[in-house]
Amino acid sequence: MATLIDGKALASKVRETIKQRIEQENIKAKLAVILVGNDDASVVYVRNKNKACEKVGIAFEEYLLPEETTQNELIELIDKLNEDVETTGILLQYPIPKHLNVQEAFNRISPLKDVDGFNPMNVGLRTIGDKTGFVPCTPLGIMEMFKEYNIELQGKKAVVIGRSNIVGKPMGQLLQDANCTVTICHSKTQNIEKETITADILVAALGKAKFVKENMIKEGAVVIDVGMDRDEEGKLCGDVDFENVSKKASYITPVPGGVGPMTVAMLLSNTIKAYDIQQNKKN
Ligand code: GUN
Repeated sequence: MATLIDGKALASKVRETIKQRIEQENIKAKLAVILVGNDDASVVYVRNKNKACEKVGIAFEEYLLPEETTQNELIELIDKLNEDVETTGILLQYPIPKHLNVQEAFNRISPLKDVDGFNPMNVGLRTIGDKTGFVPCTPLGIMEMFKEYNIELQGKKAVVIGRSNIVGKPMGQLLQDANCTVTICHSKTQNIEKETITADILVAALGKAKFVKENMIKEGAVVIDVGMDRDEEGKLCGDVDFENVSKKASYITPVPGGVGPMTVAMLLSNTIKAYDIQQNKKN
């Protein structure tokens, strides 16, 4: 039976460290979150981010824009927040309505306030292994989990399922920087189980309920589940068939209580990093 990687407990530990620093140094950080439209999951995610900021003492401001918002209106708001000295971090909640150009919006967020790490400047810094930029919160949280549980990465075979800009691509890069040999699988990969079965470290980030079955993994693999899906009965589950895969894996993350809380904890950490960067600019 696999050891459970407790993302909730680790997130709480990370929050405590951040809270102490904020109190000791009287840090005045503020995160602005932009939500366009009423995507149900996004509303819940934004609420969780708000609560987490409150817990540690980061100011939080939510900008709720209607579904019919124009690209110009969105860009104007981003420009205003870029200029606002009190706002230290800016996050545009994804997805946004289809008539809007999301990448253009991410490009507009100041690289110094880009706590999601989606601005091309930060994508580029990460790609060349420069740690001064921002790294997306989900892969960053997963790397923290490996550290906390002393999971050796060097020389290991890592397989990532999913190639999104938010998770799959940056995850592959971070694992490669940690000296793993990385394979990225996606919807057009043939015989995917032939790839996943070779993985010492398997990260599932494809968004399909219980896609990873026990016959797809190697005995003793470390299995990280980024999914937030619904099963046939409408119950929350991940991309991994937890019940069966957990019998064969050495470590596994649960859903909920695994990657999700760590993503939010890393958002707090990135917001404090943004504060530090902006303070250094002033001095
Ligand atoms: N939607 C789902 N995950 C994320 C994330 O990490 N950042 C943003 N901005 N939107 C998301």
